[in-house]
Amino acid sequence: MERQVAIIGAGISGLLACKYALSKGFHPVVFEAKSGIGGVWTKTVQTTKLQTPKAAYQFSDFPWPSSVTEDFPNQHQVFEYVESYARHFDLLRHIKFNTKVASIEYEGPSEEEMRSWSTWGGAGEPFSSKLGTWKIAVEDTISLSNEATFSVTPGIGFHEANWILELRSVTIPVYLVDFVILCIGRFSDVPNIPEFPPNEGPEVFHGKVMHSMEYTAMDYQSAAEFVKAKQVTVVGLQKSALDIAMECSVANGIEHPCTVLYKTEHWSVPDYLPWGVPLAYFYFNRFSELLVHKPGEGFLLSLLATMLSPLRWAFSKFVESYIKKKLRLAKFGMVPKHSFLQEISACLTSTVPEKFYDEVEQGSIVLKKASSFSFCKDGVLINGETKPLKTDLVILATGFRGDKKLRDIFVSSTFRDNITGSLNASVPLYRECIHPRIPQLAVIGFSESVSNLYTSEMRCRWLAELLGGTFRLPSIQDMEKDVAQWDKYMKTYSGQNYRRSCIGALHIWYNDQLCKDMGWNPKRKKGFIAELFEPYGPMDYAPSS
Ligand SMILES: Cc1cc2nc3c(=O)[nH]c(=O)nc-3n(C[C@H](O)[C@H](O)[C@H](O)COP(=O)(O)OP(=O)(O)OC[C@H]3O[C@@H](n4cnc5c(N)ncnc54)[C@H](O)[C@@H]3O)c2cc1C
Ligand SMILES: NC(=O)c1ccc[n+]([C@@H]2O[C@H](COP(=O)([O-])OP(=O)(O)OC[C@H]3O[C@@H](n4cnc5c(N)ncnc54)[C@H](OP(=O)(O)O)[C@@H]3O)[C@@H](O)[C@H]2O)c1
Repeated sequence: MERQVAIIGAGISGLLACKYALSKGFHPVVFEAKSGIGGVWTKTVQTTKLQTPKAAYQFSDFPWPSSVTEDFPNQHQVFEYVESYARHFDLLRHIKFNTKVASIEYEGPSEEEMRSWSTWGGAGEPFSSKLGTWKIAVEDTISLSNEATFSVTPGIGFHEANWILELRSVTIPVYLVDFVILCIGRFSDVPNIPEFPPNEGPEVFHGKVMHSMEYTAMDYQSAAEFVKAKQVTVVGLQKSALDIAMECSVANGIEHPCTVLYKTEHWSVPDYLPWGVPLAYFYFNRFSELLVHKPGEGFLLSLLATMLSPLRWAFSKFVESYIKKKLRLAKFGMVPKHSFLQEISACLTSTVPEKFYDEVEQGSIVLKKASSFSFCKDGVLINGETKPLKTDLVILATGFRGDKKLRDIFVSSTFRDNITGSLNASVPLYRECIHPRIPQLAVIGFSESVSNLYTSEMRCRWLAELLGGTFRLPSIQDMEKDVAQWDKYMKTYSGQNYRRSCIGALHIWYNDQLCKDMGWNPKRKKGFIAELFEPYGPMDYAPSS
């Protein structure tokens, strides 16, 4: 009997999951809440470009078209590239648009039985006759957004070939599937909103407060008109904040400077060529990975990493010296306290919009450090200051709660707690895809790198081989041991940002593990020198190589 695979989300990860599931003979259905594919690339602020050089952000079997000559294509170019990929591999017909998954619920072995398992799902395999099914409850987002037309006739319209279907109520269709791939993204939908004590939050402020997500949703012209002639305060100093502050300064100049409130200075990069040397030579080749302690490394590799630690420090200082000089960080009091190694190991290296610090110098952007802040009637009160910062509009570019989005999709409270794990640890996914104690389910796109398309593709290929039966997973105990080793790595190198689950600066080591599982040769370069020093990227894993 054919096993039914459901994929939730049709961003880059969901499209890749679909393509590779098809390659193994499955007929997946993809549920997408929006009316189109592309996820975060559907709509961004005008300033947004790809931050990753495009050579590192491409499908291994579908290179960028020659018409895109820029190294950092804009949102429209990225979106068109993703769309042409979906069309090329005929993926659109597998997608149910405007279909939001409200929840997923596992029906099968009891929790007690599951606790007694020593292997994932009791057999270390994705499918088995002893296993249960996932019930996927979906909502029609068009009907939801227009209640007047909301009516579904029971029993019609949802019966897919070979799919068992229930109607739980008149309005919630439920699909039963054997395997779920969660590709719901982590930088959208659920904003991270700072918390404030009573009477110190946005409720006391007479101006407007919005999250970067709402600003992003506006069309370019409306966004520019919206901020025009307003005193704007942007909270945050990562990519959304940098881009939005830049747009406000372009709209308002020095007449109405945009204030950026930040907690932590960051090593945002002006480009990827520190002192003329490509950054990839310092962080994305095998040699650079010899300089850090790796999860599960043996004695010799550990010794080597310790002996080479001065070089690791020197690489970081080399890059820092370039960024400091190029962006004049000391002049603006913006030199971070942590190392560049930590920044890149946590996948936090944003690119600074061109001329950002020129705007700071001219006064149309004001950078203000605030360990914490609250609201008052006229604006924002910075911790330690008595006079409020007068403001008309506060834009919270404070990121997203991807972990909450992941957690909330499960009905079972046990699975909810399992999937996000302890707040004192990174999200506990084996190979960053599988929770050892949640059967018949994988997550793609939560753990990050600095080139997420490439990372999601590697994971989807690995997952397809697992679904196709090429290999089995180790015992739950062994998977948990591996997860703990990666957690240790993330805490060592990403500092307080270990929950970002970044594998960026250890991508080759990570890929090696996926390759070994799949029975591929992990060494993808020609010759010893190339293997050691050439940066790795998606094309090293192209199907023909
Ligand atoms: C503005 C922006 C720029 C970025 N630039 C870069 C970059 O330059 N380089 C880089 O490596 N990474 C970048 N990223 C990170 C980016 O998240 C990834 O590169 C990648 O596009 C993520 O794809 P995804 O499919 O995993 O998630 P998403 O793109 O978030 O897609 C998730 C999809 O799932 C759908 N969905 C969610 N919940 C449900 C549900 N319950 N039911 C049905 N559908 C659902 C959503 O509608 C969405 O379409 C950027 C992120 C943002 C926000
Ligand atoms: N390609 C592009 O052009 C582009 C554009 C936009 C976004 N993106 C990507 O999208 C992802 C999300 O980016 P993002 O900038 O929206 O979010 P983010 O990277 O999570 O950054 C959030 C920012 O908000 C700050 N912050 C969080 N909570 C706060 C609080 N309570 N008070 C004050 N400040 C707080 C953080 O400060 P601390 O650092 O001090 O914690 C950080 O500066 C990233 O991967 C990013 O690279 C890419």
